[in-house]
Amino acid sequence: MHKSRFGHLAVTLGLSCCVLNMPCVLAQGAKIQTSDLISLDHVTSATALPNGVDVRDGKARIEITALREDVLRVRVSKAEKMPEDASWAVLGGARTSSAATTYSAKEEKVGFLTKVLDVSADRATSRLTISDRNGGILLQDAEPVEFHGDRFRVYKRMPEQEHYFGLGDKIGPLDRRGGTYQMWNTDQYRFQESSDPLYKAIPFFLADNAGRSYGLFLDNTWRTSFDFGKEDANAYSFGADGGPVDYYFIYGPKPKQVVEGYAWLTGLTPLPPRWSLGFQQSRYSYMTEARAREVADRMRADRIPCDALYLDIDFQVGNAPFTVNQETFPKFPEFVQELKDKHFNLVLITDLHIADRANQGYAPYDTGTAGDHFVKNPDGSVFVGKVWPGPSVFPDFTRKQSREWWGALYKQFYDEGVAGFWNDMNEPSVFEVASKTMPLDVVHRIDEPGFLPRSARHAEIHNVYGMENSRATYEGLLQLKPQQRPFVLTRATYAGGQRYAATWTGDNSSTWNHLRMSTPMLLNLGLSGFSMAGDDIGGYAGSSTPDLLTKWIEVGEFNPIYRDHTEKFTADQEPWVGGPEVEAVRRRYIEDRYRLMPYLYTLAEENSRTGVPMMRPLFLEFPDATADKHPLDLDAGNQFMLGANLLIAPAPYPEAPDSYAVTFPPVGWYDYWTGAKIASAPREAVAVSTGAALGVGALQSIKITPEVNALPVFVRAGSILPFAPLVQSTQEKPDGPLTLKVYPGDGCEGSLYQDDGISFAYKEKNFLRVKYSCDSGNSGLRLRVGARAGSFQPWWNEIEVTVFDWKSAPGKVTYGGEAISKLHFDESAHSLTITLPEKAEGGELEITAK
Ligand code: NOJ
Repeated sequence: MHKSRFGHLAVTLGLSCCVLNMPCVLAQGAKIQTSDLISLDHVTSATALPNGVDVRDGKARIEITALREDVLRVRVSKAEKMPEDASWAVLGGARTSSAATTYSAKEEKVGFLTKVLDVSADRATSRLTISDRNGGILLQDAEPVEFHGDRFRVYKRMPEQEHYFGLGDKIGPLDRRGGTYQMWNTDQYRFQESSDPLYKAIPFFLADNAGRSYGLFLDNTWRTSFDFGKEDANAYSFGADGGPVDYYFIYGPKPKQVVEGYAWLTGLTPLPPRWSLGFQQSRYSYMTEARAREVADRMRADRIPCDALYLDIDFQVGNAPFTVNQETFPKFPEFVQELKDKHFNLVLITDLHIADRANQGYAPYDTGTAGDHFVKNPDGSVFVGKVWPGPSVFPDFTRKQSREWWGALYKQFYDEGVAGFWNDMNEPSVFEVASKTMPLDVVHRIDEPGFLPRSARHAEIHNVYGMENSRATYEGLLQLKPQQRPFVLTRATYAGGQRYAATWTGDNSSTWNHLRMSTPMLLNLGLSGFSMAGDDIGGYAGSSTPDLLTKWIEVGEFNPIYRDHTEKFTADQEPWVGGPEVEAVRRRYIEDRYRLMPYLYTLAEENSRTGVPMMRPLFLEFPDATADKHPLDLDAGNQFMLGANLLIAPAPYPEAPDSYAVTFPPVGWYDYWTGAKIASAPREAVAVSTGAALGVGALQSIKITPEVNALPVFVRAGSILPFAPLVQSTQEKPDGPLTLKVYPGDGCEGSLYQDDGISFAYKEKNFLRVKYSCDSGNSGLRLRVGARAGSFQPWWNEIEVTVFDWKSAPGKVTYGGEAISKLHFDESAHSLTITLPEKAEGGELEITAK
């Protein structure tokens, strides 16, 4: 006998569930105890499938299949017929791939084996267990799956040492353990520390248990919810208001493998245009062409590198998307060209709602109506909701034809040279209604390859609506200019949305606390597929103080998207606001971002190939760093990594004057700003889950006294990092050598990826890729510059190599056997700089110690 916890849980999670709030006592073997509760409770039969098992529990069915040796799909249905097998998130190729399995039927359980996993359903209870091939349990049902009407809930055991990450943009600590979360895309203006739901629905998390990781992705577009031990300290659970029980298990054991597996399932981020990694300036209320020009010109005059200027809804006529106000922006095409000439990329907002303006010559409305492209009320009339332009209608993005119509709306702007587009408000946000969105019964049409044509209620489509909006934009741009990488910024999205757009965290506030909270949001977004993410630098709601803006520009240097943005009626927030002294500090960080661009771009390319995010929690790089293998991040405040080599260590409470400890993963470290080797001291490692001291020595740390004008950043010993000469925009060709900074240490290596930054020519080998490695010891250092792969021509003819932790003038220096004389030993900085000729075939630099 067991009690259903479904009703109580639904209440805890804030779901409307008056019918659920009744005790539901189940007897073994009997499935229905209240009017509509169905709880799986024992296996009645099982059949082997070529790649899994089909388990029956009376009329209910559990189908578990192996897509790969390490990726499983679990579908549970309360009826014999499984729901339609279609997905907005999972790639067709992944969903239909399959790994051979070995069926295993025992007295007490039935299931199968893959090369790495052992999967079974317990015959007496129908509970699932997934283990590794050594019997180590990875995932186990805590309760049988429960259905209550259209709702369902799945319960899993929650081991004491397990921590949870991901779930998209959810605010709060990096670790999701102990929290509850809902997925329902919501316009949360000025969200706060515990606001939930937020803008995105990414029902994917990564679990890490003592260095062993798996991922779980619930592919369900309805309102879903997750509870990590709030209801029951020993179990976590997830469920939905409707739709299928359809989840994927992705085995690591390393966390990076999980992230890669999730990208295999839901897709990779396309290589972004390089300019989108530059500094971007935006605000809600650049009201006129003159003001926008003034901002662009000031950037250049003040020598603040900048690649993008954004126009928010103010350039439009009455906030209607795809219009231009001729009075305030009188020469729009010329203005776009002027910005291009000044090496700015213009990004325009184009919200998804179309102003409800019949017979006013507003083409998006007219062509949309003629093509029947808007969503409807149940009575067949077009749904109208109020947003920025007033009464508005909403495209039916789950129809391919409607997406194509939408994509074509960009033609004129794109022809004029606008570089990118910003899809905002696409939760979709609707004003003046308590739900902040469309009624749940608004009718969408699904007309889409891979899906059966049908209509669907908004309750089902809501969470994918924003993603399909950004998809329509992305695919439309690609259609219009097949040779150019599109840039789309979206606010709302679903799992898999990384295939179409970059994102930001929405309407944060200009407070120190929001600066602090951004880091875990961006890290979790990265783990959830969205590497190309940023926040509103300086904060959106309210006005930033000079120090806050400075610190935000410092931290933002190491975030993938680096965009300063603020709300209408707030104080100016451009980098010069506050006077020359603060501007100089901010310039230093923005300039450094541009020097670091080769590293950043190399990371963006890695992300586009593997799914590993640019910005990373420490445990992704160092999963075994602590004595009990709990994720290091739990001890390390707001520290994060940019790629595998840079450790960024802002103060855990950025406004506090208190000194703080930087916790180092267990390798050597250098100061990024000076190149000096860090002399750290042992710190006491503490098991976060139990608070017990684990002994001294495992981790090292240093104490930092925070300063407004300084951000501690460290380089892992054993890194070779590429830098470029300073430019004011990534569209300028750098003038000068490529710089390689060598930080000797174990496993010393680095890489560089370059291409034209904008086209798809890299797919035809028009890229440049070089690998570097080095060995060092008492006798000297050897740096290997690999041969260039690809046909892209470098901007440099010389490479300036700087080796850090170099204590005395060198003996012999040769490159490819030839003596090198262009060198400089800096005694006080302990660095040696050597200039090498660029050679396509690479070569070996040998430096012998004297
Ligand atoms: C809401 C967005 O989140 C914000 O960034 C934008 O400025 C306003 N909409 C106005 O378009």
